[in-house]
Amino acid sequence: MSDQKIFIFDTTLRDGEQVPGCKLNTKEKIELALQLEALGVDIIEAGFPISSPGDFHSVEEIARIIRNATVCGLSRAVQKDIETAAAALKPARRPRIHTGIGTSDSHIKGKFNATHEEILQRATQAVKWARNLVDDVEFYAEDAGRTDNDYLARVIEAVIAAGATVVNIPDTTGYCLPDQYGEKIAWLKNKVPNIDKAIISCHCHNDLGLATANSIAGIRNGARQIECTINGLGERAGNTSLEEVVMVIKQHPELGFHTSVNSKELNPMSRLVSDTMRMPVQPNKAIVGANAFSHSSGIHQDGFLKDASTYEIINPEEVGAGESRIVLTARSGRSALAFRLKNIGYGAFNRNDIDVLYDRFLQVADTKKEVMEEDLHELAKAYQATAIVA
Ligand code: KIV
Ligand code: ZN
Repeated sequence: MSDQKIFIFDTTLRDGEQVPGCKLNTKEKIELALQLEALGVDIIEAGFPISSPGDFHSVEEIARIIRNATVCGLSRAVQKDIETAAAALKPARRPRIHTGIGTSDSHIKGKFNATHEEILQRATQAVKWARNLVDDVEFYAEDAGRTDNDYLARVIEAVIAAGATVVNIPDTTGYCLPDQYGEKIAWLKNKVPNIDKAIISCHCHNDLGLATANSIAGIRNGARQIECTINGLGERAGNTSLEEVVMVIKQHPELGFHTSVNSKELNPMSRLVSDTMRMPVQPNKAIVGANAFSHSSGIHQDGFLKDASTYEIINPEEVGAGESRIVLTARSGRSALAFRLKNIGYGAFNRNDIDVLYDRFLQVADTKKEVMEEDLHELAKAYQATAIVA
Protein backbone atom coordinates (compact mmCIF):
# COMPACT_ATOMS: atom_id res chain seq x y z
CA MET A 1 0.00 0.00 0.00
CA SER A 2 1.27 3.45 -0.92
CA ASP A 3 2.09 5.66 2.01
CA GLN A 4 0.35 9.04 1.57
CA LYS A 5 -3.41 9.17 2.05
CA ILE A 6 -5.40 11.49 -0.20
CA PHE A 7 -8.65 12.56 1.42
CA ILE A 8 -11.60 12.33 -0.93
CA PHE A 9 -14.06 15.17 -0.39
CA ASP A 10 -17.23 14.43 -2.32
CA THR A 11 -19.31 17.41 -3.35
CA THR A 12 -21.90 15.62 -5.52
CA LEU A 13 -24.61 16.72 -3.10
CA ARG A 14 -23.52 20.36 -3.22
CA ASP A 15 -21.55 21.42 -6.36
CA GLY A 16 -23.00 18.44 -8.30
CA GLU A 17 -26.52 19.20 -7.21
CA GLN A 18 -26.18 22.79 -8.50
CA VAL A 19 -26.45 21.42 -12.06
CA PRO A 20 -29.77 22.49 -13.61
CA GLY A 21 -32.18 19.56 -13.39
CA CYS A 22 -30.15 17.66 -10.79
CA LYS A 23 -31.81 19.02 -7.66
CA LEU A 24 -32.44 16.37 -5.03
CA ASN A 25 -34.97 16.07 -2.24
CA THR A 26 -33.98 15.04 1.28
CA LYS A 27 -34.79 11.36 0.78
CA GLU A 28 -32.65 11.22 -2.37
CA LYS A 29 -29.80 13.09 -0.70
CA ILE A 30 -29.82 10.72 2.27
CA GLU A 31 -29.73 7.67 0.00
CA LEU A 32 -26.79 9.06 -1.95
CA ALA A 33 -24.97 10.14 1.22
CA LEU A 34 -25.25 6.62 2.66
CA GLN A 35 -23.86 5.15 -0.55
CA LEU A 36 -21.04 7.71 -0.63
CA GLU A 37 -20.12 6.67 2.89
CA ALA A 38 -20.21 3.00 1.83
CA LEU A 39 -18.02 3.90 -1.15
CA GLY A 40 -15.41 5.13 1.32
CA VAL A 41 -15.26 8.88 0.78
CA ASP A 42 -13.76 10.80 3.70
CA ILE A 43 -15.87 13.96 3.56
CA ILE A 44 -19.41 14.44 2.26
CA GLU A 45 -20.33 18.02 1.40
CA ALA A 46 -24.03 17.61 2.05
CA GLY A 47 -25.29 21.00 0.90
CA PHE A 48 -25.51 24.73 1.46
CA PRO A 49 -27.76 25.05 4.52
CA ILE A 50 -28.63 28.76 4.21
CA SER A 51 -29.69 28.32 0.57
CA SER A 52 -33.15 26.91 1.35
CA PRO A 53 -35.09 25.33 4.24
CA GLY A 54 -35.11 22.10 2.21
CA ASP A 55 -31.34 22.01 1.95
CA PHE A 56 -30.97 22.87 5.65
CA HIS A 57 -33.16 19.87 6.43
CA SER A 58 -31.18 17.62 4.07
CA VAL A 59 -27.85 18.58 5.65
CA GLU A 60 -29.31 18.07 9.13
CA GLU A 61 -30.66 14.60 8.27
CA ILE A 62 -27.41 13.57 6.61
CA ALA A 63 -25.49 14.85 9.65
CA ARG A 64 -27.72 12.64 11.82
CA ILE A 65 -27.36 9.48 9.78
CA ILE A 66 -23.71 9.42 8.66
CA ARG A 67 -21.44 7.60 11.11
CA ASN A 68 -17.89 7.61 9.75
CA ALA A 69 -17.44 10.31 7.13
CA THR A 70 -17.07 13.99 7.97
CA VAL A 71 -20.24 15.89 7.03
CA CYS A 72 -19.63 19.33 5.62
CA GLY A 73 -21.90 22.32 4.97
CA LEU A 74 -21.08 25.25 2.69
CA SER A 75 -21.38 28.88 3.66
CA ARG A 76 -20.34 32.29 2.41
CA ALA A 77 -18.11 34.42 4.65
CA VAL A 78 -21.26 35.73 6.31
CA GLN A 79 -22.06 35.24 9.99
CA LYS A 80 -25.67 34.17 9.41
CA ASP A 81 -24.57 31.59 6.80
CA ILE A 82 -21.97 30.17 9.14
CA GLU A 83 -24.37 29.96 12.09
CA THR A 84 -26.96 28.28 9.89
CA ALA A 85 -24.40 25.76 8.63
CA ALA A 86 -23.38 25.01 12.24
CA ALA A 87 -27.03 24.54 13.25
CA ALA A 88 -27.65 22.10 10.38
CA LEU A 89 -24.47 20.18 11.24
CA LYS A 90 -25.27 19.95 14.95
CA PRO A 91 -26.16 16.21 14.92
CA ALA A 92 -22.97 15.29 13.02
CA ARG A 93 -20.28 13.17 14.63
CA ARG A 94 -17.66 14.96 12.55
CA PRO A 95 -18.98 18.33 11.39
CA ARG A 96 -17.05 20.63 9.07
CA ILE A 97 -17.97 24.16 8.02
CA HIS A 98 -16.74 25.13 4.56
CA THR A 99 -16.59 28.91 4.39
CA GLY A 100 -14.80 31.31 2.12
CA ILE A 101 -14.75 34.26 -0.22
CA GLY A 102 -13.52 35.23 -3.70
CA THR A 103 -9.88 36.30 -3.72
CA SER A 104 -9.16 37.09 -7.38
CA ASP A 105 -9.16 40.71 -8.58
CA SER A 106 -12.21 39.88 -10.64
CA HIS A 107 -14.14 38.77 -7.54
CA ILE A 108 -12.76 41.45 -5.22
CA LYS A 109 -13.57 44.30 -7.57
CA GLY A 110 -16.40 42.97 -9.75
CA LYS A 111 -18.33 40.99 -7.14
CA PHE A 112 -17.56 42.70 -3.83
CA ASN A 113 -16.39 46.19 -4.86
CA ALA A 114 -13.94 45.84 -1.99
CA THR A 115 -10.21 46.18 -1.33
CA HIS A 116 -7.74 43.33 -0.87
CA GLU A 117 -7.39 44.26 2.82
CA GLU A 118 -11.15 44.16 3.36
CA ILE A 119 -11.39 40.69 1.80
CA LEU A 120 -8.51 39.50 3.98
CA GLN A 121 -10.39 40.75 7.04
CA ARG A 122 -13.65 39.12 5.97
CA ALA A 123 -11.87 35.83 5.30
CA THR A 124 -10.22 35.66 8.74
CA GLN A 125 -13.36 36.84 10.50
CA ALA A 126 -15.39 34.10 8.80
CA VAL A 127 -12.94 31.42 9.90
CA LYS A 128 -13.01 32.74 13.49
CA TRP A 129 -16.81 32.67 13.57
CA ALA A 130 -16.79 29.13 12.23
CA ARG A 131 -14.08 27.95 14.62
CA ASN A 132 -16.21 29.19 17.53
CA LEU A 133 -18.86 26.73 16.41
CA VAL A 134 -16.96 23.65 15.16
CA ASP A 135 -13.38 22.33 15.37
CA ASP A 136 -13.02 21.53 11.69
CA VAL A 137 -13.15 24.55 9.38
CA GLU A 138 -12.29 24.55 5.72
CA PHE A 139 -11.63 27.87 4.01
CA TYR A 140 -12.10 28.31 0.25
CA ALA A 141 -10.37 31.08 -1.67
CA GLU A 142 -12.85 31.24 -4.51
CA ASP A 143 -11.24 31.74 -7.94
CA ALA A 144 -7.82 30.95 -6.43
CA GLY A 145 -6.89 29.72 -9.90
CA ARG A 146 -6.87 33.34 -11.11
CA THR A 147 -5.73 34.90 -7.83
CA ASP A 148 -2.33 36.56 -7.60
CA ASN A 149 -0.03 34.09 -5.81
CA ASP A 150 1.45 36.63 -3.34
CA TYR A 151 -1.98 37.76 -2.22
CA LEU A 152 -3.25 34.17 -2.07
CA ALA A 153 -0.34 33.25 0.20
CA ARG A 154 -1.21 36.15 2.54
CA VAL A 155 -4.85 35.08 2.72
CA ILE A 156 -3.98 31.45 3.33
CA GLU A 157 -1.50 32.31 6.08
CA ALA A 158 -4.09 34.54 7.76
CA VAL A 159 -6.94 32.01 7.64
CA ILE A 160 -4.72 29.24 9.01
CA ALA A 161 -3.67 31.58 11.84
CA ALA A 162 -7.40 32.19 12.43
CA GLY A 163 -8.00 28.43 12.79
CA ALA A 164 -8.66 26.93 9.34
CA THR A 165 -7.86 23.21 9.35
CA VAL A 166 -8.18 22.79 5.58
CA VAL A 167 -7.42 25.38 2.89
CA ASN A 168 -9.23 24.91 -0.39
CA ILE A 169 -7.61 26.36 -3.53
CA PRO A 170 -10.41 26.27 -6.12
CA ASP A 171 -9.79 26.68 -9.79
CA THR A 172 -13.37 27.93 -9.91
CA THR A 173 -13.40 28.73 -13.62
CA GLY A 174 -11.34 25.73 -14.75
CA TYR A 175 -8.76 28.12 -16.19
CA CYS A 176 -5.41 26.76 -14.98
CA LEU A 177 -3.11 24.46 -16.88
CA PRO A 178 -1.90 21.48 -14.83
CA ASP A 179 1.62 22.88 -14.39
CA GLN A 180 0.21 26.29 -13.36
CA TYR A 181 -2.14 24.73 -10.81
CA GLY A 182 0.62 22.46 -9.49
CA GLU A 183 2.97 25.46 -9.19
CA LYS A 184 0.31 27.38 -7.26
CA ILE A 185 0.08 24.57 -4.70
CA ALA A 186 3.89 24.28 -4.52
CA TRP A 187 4.08 28.07 -4.05
CA LEU A 188 1.73 27.94 -1.07
CA LYS A 189 3.58 24.97 0.38
CA ASN A 190 6.85 26.92 0.20
CA LYS A 191 5.73 30.46 0.99
CA VAL A 192 3.10 30.11 3.69
CA PRO A 193 4.97 29.72 7.00
CA ASN A 194 2.13 27.94 8.84
CA ILE A 195 1.01 25.76 5.90
CA ASP A 196 1.88 22.57 7.79
CA LYS A 197 -0.97 23.31 10.22
CA ALA A 198 -3.60 22.76 7.49
CA ILE A 199 -4.42 20.32 4.71
CA ILE A 200 -4.35 21.83 1.22
CA SER A 201 -7.36 20.88 -0.88
CA CYS A 202 -7.83 20.91 -4.69
CA HIS A 203 -11.22 21.94 -6.05
CA CYS A 204 -11.02 22.03 -9.84
CA HIS A 205 -13.65 22.74 -12.46
CA ASN A 206 -13.63 21.22 -15.90
CA ASP A 207 -14.21 24.16 -18.26
CA LEU A 208 -11.16 23.19 -20.33
CA GLY A 209 -11.38 19.46 -19.60
CA LEU A 210 -8.42 19.73 -17.20
CA ALA A 211 -10.05 19.17 -13.80
CA THR A 212 -8.65 15.69 -13.23
CA ALA A 213 -5.19 16.59 -14.53
CA ASN A 214 -5.15 19.71 -12.34
CA SER A 215 -6.19 17.80 -9.23
CA ILE A 216 -3.45 15.25 -9.80
CA ALA A 217 -0.94 18.09 -10.33
CA GLY A 218 -2.21 19.51 -7.03
CA ILE A 219 -1.50 16.39 -4.99
CA ARG A 220 1.87 15.92 -6.67
CA ASN A 221 2.78 19.35 -5.35
CA GLY A 222 1.62 18.99 -1.77
CA ALA A 223 -2.20 18.99 -1.63
CA ARG A 224 -3.70 16.11 0.36
CA GLN A 225 -7.41 16.47 -0.35
CA ILE A 226 -9.31 16.35 -3.64
CA GLU A 227 -12.82 17.76 -4.01
CA CYS A 228 -14.73 15.88 -6.64
CA THR A 229 -18.11 14.56 -7.73
CA ILE A 230 -19.52 11.31 -9.04
CA ASN A 231 -19.64 11.39 -12.86
CA GLY A 232 -17.85 14.75 -12.74
CA LEU A 233 -21.13 16.58 -12.20
CA GLY A 234 -20.96 20.24 -11.23
CA GLU A 235 -21.42 23.82 -12.33
CA ARG A 236 -21.07 24.37 -16.11
CA ALA A 237 -18.66 21.71 -17.45
CA GLY A 238 -18.53 20.07 -14.06
CA ASN A 239 -16.04 19.28 -11.31
CA THR A 240 -13.19 16.82 -11.04
CA SER A 241 -14.62 13.36 -11.47
CA LEU A 242 -14.23 11.19 -8.35
CA GLU A 243 -13.90 7.95 -10.27
CA GLU A 244 -11.13 9.40 -12.43
CA VAL A 245 -8.91 10.69 -9.63
CA VAL A 246 -9.42 7.55 -7.56
CA MET A 247 -8.38 5.35 -10.46
CA VAL A 248 -5.46 7.57 -11.52
CA ILE A 249 -4.13 7.20 -7.97
CA LYS A 250 -4.77 3.45 -7.96
CA GLN A 251 -3.31 2.77 -11.42
CA HIS A 252 -0.18 4.80 -10.72
CA PRO A 253 1.27 3.46 -7.45
CA GLU A 254 4.54 5.20 -8.30
CA LEU A 255 2.83 8.48 -7.31
CA GLY A 256 2.91 7.19 -3.74
CA PHE A 257 -0.73 7.89 -2.84
CA HIS A 258 -3.79 5.93 -1.84
CA THR A 259 -7.43 6.68 -1.07
CA SER A 260 -10.00 4.88 1.07
CA VAL A 261 -12.44 4.50 -1.82
CA ASN A 262 -13.58 0.97 -2.67
CA SER A 263 -13.12 1.06 -6.44
CA LYS A 264 -15.50 -1.89 -6.98
CA GLU A 265 -18.36 0.39 -5.97
CA LEU A 266 -17.55 3.08 -8.54
CA ASN A 267 -19.86 1.88 -11.31
CA PRO A 268 -22.82 1.07 -9.05
CA MET A 269 -22.39 4.52 -7.43
CA SER A 270 -22.22 6.21 -10.82
CA ARG A 271 -25.45 4.51 -11.95
CA LEU A 272 -27.22 5.41 -8.71
CA VAL A 273 -26.27 9.09 -9.08
CA SER A 274 -27.18 9.11 -12.75
CA ASP A 275 -30.59 7.51 -12.07
CA THR A 276 -31.38 9.63 -9.03
CA MET A 277 -30.39 12.89 -10.71
CA ARG A 278 -31.81 11.76 -14.06
CA MET A 279 -28.55 12.82 -15.67
CA PRO A 280 -27.15 10.32 -18.19
CA VAL A 281 -23.43 9.54 -18.22
CA GLN A 282 -21.70 10.17 -21.55
CA PRO A 283 -20.87 6.76 -23.08
CA ASN A 284 -17.18 7.57 -23.51
CA LYS A 285 -16.77 8.75 -19.91
CA ALA A 286 -13.64 7.27 -18.32
CA ILE A 287 -14.23 4.44 -15.81
CA VAL A 288 -18.05 4.63 -15.73
CA GLY A 289 -19.18 5.30 -19.31
CA ALA A 290 -21.02 2.53 -21.18
CA ASN A 291 -18.11 2.29 -23.65
CA ALA A 292 -15.29 2.45 -21.09
CA PHE A 293 -14.74 -1.30 -21.49
CA SER A 294 -16.15 -1.86 -25.00
CA HIS A 295 -14.06 -2.81 -28.00
CA SER A 296 -15.43 -2.34 -31.48
CA SER A 297 -12.68 -2.08 -34.09
CA GLY A 298 -11.22 -5.25 -35.58
CA ILE A 299 -7.62 -4.42 -34.64
CA HIS A 300 -8.50 -3.70 -31.02
CA GLN A 301 -10.83 -6.70 -30.74
CA ASP A 302 -8.24 -9.10 -32.06
CA GLY A 303 -5.59 -7.81 -29.64
CA PHE A 304 -8.01 -7.73 -26.70
CA LEU A 305 -9.20 -11.30 -27.34
CA LYS A 306 -5.60 -12.54 -27.39
CA ASP A 307 -4.65 -10.64 -24.23
CA ALA A 308 -6.99 -8.16 -22.52
CA SER A 309 -4.10 -6.01 -21.32
CA THR A 310 -3.24 -4.99 -24.89
CA TYR A 311 -6.21 -2.62 -24.88
CA GLU A 312 -7.33 -2.37 -21.25
CA ILE A 313 -5.34 -0.80 -18.43
CA ILE A 314 -8.03 -1.53 -15.86
CA ASN A 315 -9.83 -4.78 -15.20
CA PRO A 316 -13.53 -3.78 -15.39
CA GLU A 317 -14.28 -5.90 -12.31
CA GLU A 318 -11.96 -3.66 -10.33
CA VAL A 319 -14.35 -0.75 -10.87
CA GLY A 320 -17.56 -2.77 -10.67
CA ALA A 321 -18.21 -2.52 -14.40
CA GLY A 322 -19.01 -6.18 -15.06
CA GLU A 323 -17.39 -7.69 -18.14
CA SER A 324 -15.69 -6.01 -21.09
CA ARG A 325 -17.84 -5.94 -24.23
CA ILE A 326 -17.02 -6.92 -27.78
CA VAL A 327 -19.32 -4.73 -29.85
CA LEU A 328 -19.96 -5.68 -33.46
CA THR A 329 -20.00 -2.97 -36.09
CA ALA A 330 -18.85 -2.71 -39.71
CA ARG A 331 -15.36 -1.96 -38.30
CA SER A 332 -15.20 -5.27 -36.42
CA GLY A 333 -13.08 -8.23 -37.45
CA ARG A 334 -13.36 -11.99 -37.88
CA SER A 335 -12.08 -12.87 -34.40
CA ALA A 336 -14.73 -10.70 -32.80
CA LEU A 337 -17.45 -12.28 -34.93
CA ALA A 338 -16.25 -15.79 -34.07
CA PHE A 339 -16.05 -14.87 -30.38
CA ARG A 340 -19.57 -13.46 -30.26
CA LEU A 341 -21.00 -16.41 -32.22
CA LYS A 342 -19.32 -18.83 -29.86
CA ASN A 343 -20.74 -16.95 -26.87
CA ILE A 344 -24.26 -17.48 -28.10
CA GLY A 345 -23.82 -21.14 -28.84
CA TYR A 346 -22.28 -21.38 -32.33
CA GLY A 347 -18.87 -22.67 -31.33
CA ALA A 348 -18.66 -25.30 -34.05
CA PHE A 349 -17.95 -22.94 -36.96
CA ASN A 350 -14.50 -23.45 -38.47
CA ARG A 351 -12.29 -20.87 -40.17
CA ASN A 352 -13.99 -21.34 -43.57
CA ASP A 353 -17.44 -20.96 -42.05
CA ILE A 354 -16.35 -17.74 -40.36
CA ASP A 355 -14.95 -16.40 -43.66
CA VAL A 356 -18.31 -16.89 -45.36
CA LEU A 357 -20.24 -15.63 -42.36
CA TYR A 358 -17.99 -12.59 -42.11
CA ASP A 359 -18.88 -11.45 -45.66
CA ARG A 360 -22.57 -11.77 -44.85
CA PHE A 361 -22.02 -10.07 -41.50
CA LEU A 362 -20.42 -7.06 -43.23
CA GLN A 363 -23.43 -6.65 -45.49
CA VAL A 364 -25.67 -6.45 -42.43
CA ALA A 365 -23.19 -4.32 -40.48
CA ASP A 366 -23.00 -1.69 -43.22
CA THR A 367 -26.71 -1.05 -42.82
CA LYS A 368 -26.64 -0.71 -39.00
CA LYS A 369 -24.92 1.16 -36.20
CA GLU A 370 -24.40 -2.07 -34.27
CA VAL A 371 -25.00 -5.73 -35.09
CA MET A 372 -27.06 -7.20 -32.27
CA GLU A 373 -27.41 -10.70 -30.88
CA GLU A 374 -30.64 -11.33 -32.79
CA ASP A 375 -28.87 -10.41 -36.07
CA LEU A 376 -26.18 -12.97 -35.25
CA HIS A 377 -28.76 -15.68 -34.64
CA GLU A 378 -30.33 -14.89 -38.02
CA LEU A 379 -26.96 -14.98 -39.79
CA ALA A 380 -25.90 -18.23 -38.12
CA LYS A 381 -29.22 -19.97 -38.68
CA ALA A 382 -29.40 -18.94 -42.35
CA TYR A 383 -25.85 -20.18 -42.85
CA GLN A 384 -26.54 -23.49 -41.10
CA ALA A 385 -29.63 -23.99 -43.26
CA THR A 386 -27.71 -23.43 -46.53
CA ALA A 387 -24.80 -25.54 -45.30
CA ILE A 388 -27.19 -28.42 -44.51
CA VAL A 389 -28.98 -28.10 -47.89
CA ALA A 390 -25.61 -28.06 -49.69
O1 KIV B 1 -15.83 26.38 -7.42
C1 KIV B 1 -15.74 26.94 -6.30
O2 KIV B 1 -14.94 27.86 -6.09
C2 KIV B 1 -16.63 26.47 -5.25
C3 KIV B 1 -16.41 27.01 -3.87
C4 KIV B 1 -17.70 27.41 -3.25
C5 KIV B 1 -15.66 26.01 -3.05
O3 KIV B 1 -17.46 25.62 -5.48
ZN1 ZN C 1 -16.98 24.54 -7.34
